[in-house]
Amino acid sequence: MTQTITVIRGDGIGPEIMDATLHVLDLMSLDLSYEYADAGLVALEKHGELLPAATMESIRRNRIALKSPLTTPVGEGFSSINVELRKRFDLYANVRPAKSFPNTKSRFPENVDIVTVRENTEGAYIGEGQSLSEDGETAVLQQKVTRRGSERIARYAFELARRTGRQKVTVVHKANILKSTSGLFLRTARMVAQEYPDIECNEMIVDNCCMQLVMKPEQFDVLVTTNLFGDIISDLCAGLVGGLGLAPGANIGTDAAIFEAVHGTAPDIAGQGKANPCALLLGAAQMLDHLGKVDEAGRLRAAIVQTLESRDSLTPDLGGDGNTMSFARAIGRRI
Ligand code: NAI
Repeated sequence: MTQTITVIRGDGIGPEIMDATLHVLDLMSLDLSYEYADAGLVALEKHGELLPAATMESIRRNRIALKSPLTTPVGEGFSSINVELRKRFDLYANVRPAKSFPNTKSRFPENVDIVTVRENTEGAYIGEGQSLSEDGETAVLQQKVTRRGSERIARYAFELARRTGRQKVTVVHKANILKSTSGLFLRTARMVAQEYPDIECNEMIVDNCCMQLVMKPEQFDVLVTTNLFGDIISDLCAGLVGGLGLAPGANIGTDAAIFEAVHGTAPDIAGQGKANPCALLLGAAQMLDHLGKVDEAGRLRAAIVQTLESRDSLTPDLGGDGNTMSFARAIGRRI
């Protein structure tokens, strides 16, 4: 059956990397059809709002979206569109793989294969309970962690490990200091771990985890953690393997899932054909996994690896002299 996906071409380099990604997907006979929807600055200009109702309706109907980066205007009273999408569709699992790739500017060109599973809706990012005293001298932030939120993200991490043949889940926390929030998260994750005797589970305090990631990243497999720690750690992991041009992310909920590149709209190179399409292509591979097209996802990842190995038409960020579309065509030739 043809699967319709909502395609958001986004701002800045967004349309360039989306065209490149769809070029490759179109070569794969995937039985996908695309429903285009606007969000971000382009939507504000066309429809007068950053996240039009028609876009929300499209995602609700199709339950799957492939999204390029979006610009949220700064300091004009707009809240982040990405945070808004996560909230409205309860996209509770942010899944970010970081894997060594050949011929990248990476400190770890091999042996890193980590998936960070970040709780995406709670913690320090609830957007409530922030206050600044009248004299501007004292700021307060509330965090919220629930047993339900902790349980479903922990279960997601263990299920992902089991489904993808991974061996170990590391619960990253700060329960020694943040006894209520991180404590509840850790206790709940421990309980969930008992249901998965086939998956090794260990625990690590977040500061030690950061050091260990930089010193010895090959010891990690799946990391599961709360919102703020996950935000930081997943960027750290992206940095280990060569940076933003190769970092995809999935935002997964029960009723919808949105797949994307982790990077932003890169206004400094927009419209120049210099953008590396790999992060969005790898996001598309996560989408194919989610749709049960696991072999096709594997083919796509293999074609990306082969293209990097042969240095065929790589974009300037990878030290090549290709452009966004020539890189995509080189990947397409290897599909
Ligand atoms: P950025 O990720 O857009 O750019 C940081 C640096 O990385 C720039 O030098 C850029 O040229 C480079 N870069 C990023 N993606 C690249 C790619 N695919 N190929 C080659 N080079 C690439 O981060 P920045 O500058 O902090 O943010 C720019 C805008 O993007 C802001 O408006 C921000 O709000 C938005 N943004 C949107 C996100 C999303 O929609 N998921 C995520 C992060 C930022």
